[in-house]
Amino acid sequence: MSAKTVDASRTVITELMIPSFANFSGKVHGGTLLSLMDKVAYVCAAKHSGAYCVTVSVDGVEFREPVEVGELVSLSASINYVGNSSMIIGIRVESLKPKTGETKHTNSCYFTMVAKNEDGTLMTVPELILETHLDVRRFHDAKKLKEKRRDIMDMLHREFKDMTDEQLAADLEGNRCIVEIVED
Ligand SMILES: CC(C)(COP(=O)(O)OP(=O)(O)OC[C@H]1O[C@@H](n2cnc3c(N)ncnc32)[C@H](O)[C@@H]1OP(=O)(O)O)[C@@H](O)C(=O)NCCC(=O)NCCS
Repeated sequence: MSAKTVDASRTVITELMIPSFANFSGKVHGGTLLSLMDKVAYVCAAKHSGAYCVTVSVDGVEFREPVEVGELVSLSASINYVGNSSMIIGIRVESLKPKTGETKHTNSCYFTMVAKNEDGTLMTVPELILETHLDVRRFHDAKKLKEKRRDIMDMLHREFKDMTDEQLAADLEGNRCIVEIVED
C-alpha cells in the first residue's frame, strides 16, 4: 500500500451546538464533544487507511472552556503517527460565537484508531509521508506518547495490583478520604 501525506487525510468538521446537546444551563455536554471528536478521528483514520477503523484509546481530553448552545464547534484532525495497524490522530477543538466572532480553543487531544480488514483482523496501514517540520515533530511526540502510555497502563495494571489493603491505605494517608471498608 503506498504511503500517504498528512494532508491527504486532514479533516475539519464544523457543527452547530443545538439545545439537545446541552444541559439546563445551556452548556454543551462533554460527551457530545467526545462523540464529535470520535467522528472526526474516524473520518481521518478511514481516509488514511482506506479501511474500517475502530477507536482504541483516547488521551489528553480536557475541557478548558465551556461550550454553549448557538456556538459553532470546529474539530480539526490530522494523523500524527502511524504504527502497523494503529494511527494516532491529533484533534484541535475550537468554538466560535458567530455574533461576536470570538473563538476559543476548548481542547486538544489524541485518539488512537486501529484499521481492520473485512474479516476483523488487523490491517497494515500506509506509511505516513512527513512533509513539514511540524509533521516530524508531531510524529515524534505521538510515538513518545504511545511509549509513555504503555508504561502508565503497565504501572496501573501491575505495580499496584499486589498491594495489600493496608499498604493502599498507608499510601492514601493525608488524602481527603476516609478508609472505612464495610464488606466486599
Ligand atoms: C484494539 C485491538 C484491535 C487490539 O487488539 P490486540 O489483539 O491487543 O492487538 P495488538 O496488541 O497487536 O494491538 C494492535 C495495535 O493496537 C495498538 N493498541 C492496542 N491497545 C492499545 C491501547 N490501549 N492504546 C493504544 N494503542 C493500542 C497496538 O499498539 C497495536 O498498534 P500497531 O499495530 O500500530 O503496532 C482490540 O483490543 C480491539 O479490537 N478492541 C475493540 C475496539 C473497538 O471495538 N472500539 C470501538 C469502541 S466499542
